[in-house]
Amino acid sequence: MDAMSLCLRRTIGPRTGCSTLLSRIFKIRTERTVHYSSGVLGQSTPEQTERFVPRRAMMYVPGSDKKKLGKIPSLQVDCAVMDCEDGVAMNRKLEARLNISEALDTLDFGQTECAVRINSVNSGFMEEDLRITLMANKLPQALMLPKVETPEELELFTEKLCTALDDRALAEKLRLVIFVESAIGIINLEPVCRRGLELSKSGPYKLDGVVFGSDDFCADIGATRSVECTEVMYARQKVVLTAKAFRLQAIDVVHTDYKDLDSLKRQSIEGARMGYTGKQVIHPGQISTVQEAFTPSPEKIEWATELIQAFDGHQKSGRGAFTFRGNMIDMPLLLQARNILELVKVTRGR
Ligand code: COA
Ligand code: MG
Repeated sequence: MDAMSLCLRRTIGPRTGCSTLLSRIFKIRTERTVHYSSGVLGQSTPEQTERFVPRRAMMYVPGSDKKKLGKIPSLQVDCAVMDCEDGVAMNRKLEARLNISEALDTLDFGQTECAVRINSVNSGFMEEDLRITLMANKLPQALMLPKVETPEELELFTEKLCTALDDRALAEKLRLVIFVESAIGIINLEPVCRRGLELSKSGPYKLDGVVFGSDDFCADIGATRSVECTEVMYARQKVVLTAKAFRLQAIDVVHTDYKDLDSLKRQSIEGARMGYTGKQVIHPGQISTVQEAFTPSPEKIEWATELIQAFDGHQKSGRGAFTFRGNMIDMPLLLQARNILELVKVTRGR
């Protein structure tokens, strides 16, 4: 069943007439204006030409803390995640939802992507999270769905999201970022991504990324979390591999010891080398270290610029593989060079 049918399943009751039916069909105007191809960003296919939204740092802000929400516009973070889930105490969920709804309407997020993390499909909180936060006049740009374990959960989420949006017209699809945080979630990540992309075709969102929820994952498998991340080596690798196979962003582990910036830097550089697009952060003091680690260095930018120029020159003269700075250059390296320049382009001035 596609997302439109899931939407209609709840929209059209048994007594709904044909004209009401047509008037209730979801109104979505997708904007496909900016064109990027990528591998850091996910290599593009002809149908994947949406705007790349950088999430080098993805920062959690507890929805129950109005003061912290109010700080978002001053933080220069790529993505701010206003949280209804684990950063919020059980008895403050309603307050968090109301604060987030107000923040959406009143804060000027500037270049920061404004995202809302709702509770998981099986938490019993998700519907109310969606209903109340999406009452705002200005919708968030992205929704974050934690603890996804099966494709069926995505179907239920889609149905409930459609209910919460009612027949609101969207200027642009919402972006969806899902979290994988358990052993079964890791095992099922491939069918989950596949289903998410199918539902994205007709639904009110576009699946855009996968977050590795390492701390919940460790709790689930009984591992002890370490700065070196050796205990999550396989899962960390599998998340980035699967996300990139589906051309989705991959967001790396959170570093909870937020005062230790040296190990944060090491861990961030390692994540960027593994192919991750960004990293979760919990404190403003972590933002610049992480965003820097996920930004290509000046040397790398120079390498990429010159490589592309050399490649173009060789293409014009009809030659394929060639040598550049002592290395054989072919298509994969060219794609990497393009990714670097594209990331620089979208994050310039930040
Ligand atoms: N978002 C926005 N602002 C934040 C922030 C956050 N996540 N964390 C801290 N700040 C602000 C503080 O309000 C404070 O502002 P001020 O200087 O105007 O008073 C400033 O940054 C310095 O904060 P600090 O005093 O060092 O930390 P704290 O004790 O206020 O908060 C935490 C520490 C860990 C509780 C806080 O960073 C936090 O709540 N992080 C998010 C945790 C979370 O969501 N976890 C779930 C997902 S893993
Ligand atoms: Mg979690």
